[in-house]
Amino acid sequence: MLWVEKYRPKSFDEVVNQEEAKEVLASWICHKFKAPREFCSKWAKKRSVEAKAILLAGPPGTGKTTLVHALAREINYELIELNASDVRTGERVKQTVGRGIREVSLFGYVGRMILFDEVDGLHAREDAGGLEAVIEIIETAKIPVVMTANNPYDSKFRPLREISHVVNLRELSEKEVVAVLMKICKTERAQCEEEALAAIAKSTAGDLRAAINDLQMYLTGDRVLTLDKIRRDERNPQMSMFKVLDKVYKARWFSEAVKVSSSPSFDWEQYFTWVLETIPTVYKDLELLAEAYDNLSKADMFIGVVKKTQEWELLRYALELVTGGVSQVRNKPRLPPFIKYGFPQRFLTMSRLREVRKRRELLARYLSTSLHVSRSVVNTELVYVLSALVKMGQEKIVLDKLSKALGVNTLDIRDLLTK
Ligand SMILES: Nc1ncnc2c1ncn2[C@@H]1O[C@H](COP(=O)(O)OP(=O)(O)O)[C@@H](O)[C@H]1O
Ligand SMILES: [Mg+2]
Repeated sequence: MLWVEKYRPKSFDEVVNQEEAKEVLASWICHKFKAPREFCSKWAKKRSVEAKAILLAGPPGTGKTTLVHALAREINYELIELNASDVRTGERVKQTVGRGIREVSLFGYVGRMILFDEVDGLHAREDAGGLEAVIEIIETAKIPVVMTANNPYDSKFRPLREISHVVNLRELSEKEVVAVLMKICKTERAQCEEEALAAIAKSTAGDLRAAINDLQMYLTGDRVLTLDKIRRDERNPQMSMFKVLDKVYKARWFSEAVKVSSSPSFDWEQYFTWVLETIPTVYKDLELLAEAYDNLSKADMFIGVVKKTQEWELLRYALELVTGGVSQVRNKPRLPPFIKYGFPQRFLTMSRLREVRKRRELLARYLSTSLHVSRSVVNTELVYVLSALVKMGQEKIVLDKLSKALGVNTLDIRDLLTK
């Protein structure tokens, strides 16, 4: 089980350091909708928050989704999560928003609540219609609507900001992240050095989801975590490439994926090969594959131009395509927590090919000097004659002779001639 799920706070109390957001949510829900008195006296202010909806804004992994889930649980509402495609098709939305309260109570819930998670993802796919639909729902819904967004400050989202009360969530400090990680270590009965947890907190920069995922990765099959172990992993180039790929594929935002390319240790040529070969491991669906590879091929053309013109400032467009473009494919599925990225076959094949090419050159040179013909005659004609001879059963003579002359074993020569 994923630890980010296992350790997702169930109540407001457990959510760390988002006091303002809790207060706004509670004040809004308690004055405008039905909520338990106990909850309201603990969290709500006297004054209501006047808005059709609440928009929680903040960087990934700060508790936006968690807060909404915790709220629904605290006030015993059924939480309905709607995403961009639900909105577009409209079906589920109408069903949900239109149904009466009485039906709800059958399941023991007091009411229903809508969550539009990551609404700023809507614009990434030229989804103006989706945005309008969200606004319409907010304006007509009789049940509470909460939205989350990483960055709703693009002018496209002004209409959303205008009909909602925007709360900015706080970025979690390293100290707060370490405290959460330490608690998880204790519960998992793992021995974790505080310096190791601090290193994880530092590298994940306030994103608690990423920090918890890293911790789980380090503690898989191991109950001890030391700073030394983390340092060792960081120095291992293969390990760090796995991490880069994981960040790219799991990024939920274009910019989040592109960020990996700004690290000073990012080796884009190596990365290109890795990503080329890992796409089919990650995306099984043909359409996803096609889109990811299409972006790679565009990047490849950019790189071609860059190399020819030496306009290196253009490289960044290629890098956006190989990171963001590969990460943000349409209808991206939920990816498994641990993906096993294979070591690229290409690096293995390349060394094998280099060997084959060397032998082929050796063969051509030998034939051209001993038969007094040019190398191109060897390559365009003789090789085919020899290979025909081998195929016709004259291999003993041909292969033995060449093998002796070149010092290459007969099997390899047969390979050269019959490929
Ligand atoms: N403020 C917080 N307090 C406690 N745990 C948190 C907090 N923020 C994030 N987490 C942890 O990180 C995970 C991801 O949080 P989530 O709410 O999904 O982030 P997002 O802001 O991206 O929606 C949660 O499962 C939870 O374990
Ligand atoms: Mg979220």
